[in-house]
This record gives sequence, C-alpha cells and structure tokens, in this order.
Amino acid sequence: MPLLQHIMDVDLEKLALHRIVPCLLNCGFFYLDDFLGDLIGHCVLDQVKELHDSGLLHDGQLAGGWSGVSRRHIRGDKIAWVSGTEEGCEAISFFLSLIDKLVTVCMAQLGKTNIRERSKAMVACYPGNGTGYVKHVDNPNADGRCVTCIYYLNKNWDAKEHGGILRIFPEGKSYVADIEPIFDRLLFFWSDRRNPHEVQPSYSMRYAITVWYFDAEERAEAKRRFRDLTASSQERSTP
Ligand code: OGA
Ligand code: OGA
Ligand code: MN
Repeated sequence: MPLLQHIMDVDLEKLALHRIVPCLLNCGFFYLDDFLGDLIGHCVLDQVKELHDSGLLHDGQLAGGWSGVSRRHIRGDKIAWVSGTEEGCEAISFFLSLIDKLVTVCMAQLGKTNIRERSKAMVACYPGNGTGYVKHVDNPNADGRCVTCIYYLNKNWDAKEHGGILRIFPEGKSYVADIEPIFDRLLFFWSDRRNPHEVQPSYSMRYAITVWYFDAEERAEAKRRFRDLTASSQERSTP
C-alpha cells in the first residue's frame, strides 16, 4: 500500500476511534472542522457549484405527512443525487471514499456490523431566500437510515447575518446544539428520533452534501413492508 494512503488510513482510524465513536456514544452527534483542507475542500465546492450552475438541482421531496402545505414552507432546498462516478464529481467521490472509511471503522467499533450500504450523496443548496427545513427527524419510522453525515461548504459564513444554522434538539435533553454550516465542517448524527433537527432560514446560498448510512436489516425490513403495502393496495384497486 502506498505510504501516503497508509498514513491517511491511520489518521482516519484514529479520528474514528478516538473522537467520533466516543462522541456518538455520549451525545449522539459529532462534528469536526478542516476535514479535507482548503485545497481539496475547494475542489468539492467547485464541483457542487458546477452541478448547481448546470441546472441539475431540483426541489427536495417531502416525506409523508405534509400534504396540503406548500413545499417551500417546509423545506426550501434544491438537491441532486450524486453517486460520485459522474464526470466532474471526482472530488465528491474522493470525499465519499473517506467518509465511507470513517463510518466503517466507527461501526465496527460499535459492533454495528449491519452498516454496509449508504445512499448516494445528496448535494443540497438552500438558495438564500429565507427558506430552511422545519424541525424533523430523518428516520422516524425505521426506514433503514442509521447515520446522517453532512459536509458543509460555505466560505465566510456569518450565522448572524446569513442564518442557516442546523439546530439539533437531542431527545430528552434540555439543551440544543447549534451547528453553523461552515466550509469544510463534517457532521455525523444518529438519523432516528434521538436527533430532531431544523435548518434555520438561510439568507445566503448554503451548500452541503448529505449521505445516509443504512442498517441493512432495518432497510430490508422497510423494503418488505413497502412491497407488502403496494401489493395490498394493488389488490384493492383490482376490479
Ligand atoms: C430527507 C430525505 C429525500 C429527498 O431529507 O430526509 O429523505 O429526495 N430526502 O430529498
Ligand atoms: C436534511 C437536513 C440539514 C442541513 O436534508 O434532512 O436536515 O444542515 N439537512 O443541511
Ligand atoms: Mn434532516
């Protein structure tokens, strides 16, 4: 294995074992700054901006339960799903390979051997028109998502002026955690009901990349439930 790769793997392992795991166990979320460094962070930002400028971002979807309300009032971001193999997404792909390693080490340490897949990367932009994302839980009903990972990309972000804070309301705790979406900041949190969170209204262009890691068993069970549901509704609608 090349030396540089080896040094990086050792660093990632230290970060996972000494900082991320203890923090996830203690408070359910973890964040760190200067994850990729200026140079590579900028490459990722440029690729995200390029996706945006090419008109590839579309309105984020609403999960169940929001019918009859205007989408923009709930969630104002524009998104694209990126696998990393697309042309012009090489830096994003590199970023994904690093967080995959981090999560693999963390979950092995936590004995969660079920975490073997993840979503594509959701590249998201809140356009700065005062929209955010109301308080929600990413995975309230066991859809398989276990860990949410968000990487922020905003240079010179001033929350007093630009808003856009991610506020986490840890379940059963009397405090909230305010996380500013600053450039090169990486965040992990449990996707379930332990971490309700909101994106406060954003008054400047706000870029982030979000990835969800799946618990394979919970995911398979959720897919079975979904199949049963669609099968039974098709039976009902058959004349
Ligand atoms: C979420 C989510 C999917 C989408 O934000 O929790 O699942 O298509 N989003 O935006
Ligand atoms: C989401 C979300 C938070 C953020 O997309 O589900 O909560 O800080 N995003 O962008
Ligand atoms: Mn969320």
